[in-house]
Amino acid sequence: MRRVLFAVVVFAAGVTAGAAQNVSVIKERKDHLKQMGDAVKPVAAMFKGEADFELGKVQSALKIMQEKAEILPGLFPEDSKTGGDTEALPVIWEEKADVEARFKKLGESAKAAEAAITDEDTFLGTWKGVAGNCSGCHKKFRKPKS
Ligand code: HEC
Repeated sequence: MRRVLFAVVVFAAGVTAGAAQNVSVIKERKDHLKQMGDAVKPVAAMFKGEADFELGKVQSALKIMQEKAEILPGLFPEDSKTGGDTEALPVIWEEKADVEARFKKLGESAKAAEAAITDEDTFLGTWKGVAGNCSGCHKKFRKPKS
């Protein structure tokens, strides 16, 4: 009897471990993405002419993008495909190299923009290319908003 019970407990634990998703890493990546989004939002408003140009805010958003582009590729482990309200699409894990390349490109493009943007004109000429890294990846790898 004790042996049977033991076997049942082990089996149940195995099932739980197999299905368990790493909800904390999902939360972590969403927090980093949200911080990046919060930094980018006022800059996007400047680009659309809805807010006054402020070089400091642009530069700080570009720095945050570079930081996040370093951190984010490590926050998509195999056990973080579902759970925790993730909007990450399963194709991420089929095309991991593309995802990593896109984060790398985001970092490089933010770095180049940091040097290139010195005033409103250079901002208006440069920003769209940097922000295109966000929308390009979302289109392919993030669940569309319903
Ligand atoms: C290489 C792909 C990729 C790039 C580049 C990227 N994102 Fe995302 N982003 C995602 C994925 C995938 C999710 C969904 C994550 C989840 O829900 O687990 C996401 C989610 C988000 C979210 C929602 C976070 C939340 O609170 O749930 C925001 C905000 C966001 N991204 C902003 C940005 C901004 C701003 C940029 C550009 C500066 C950017 N992202 C670049 C892949 C990317």
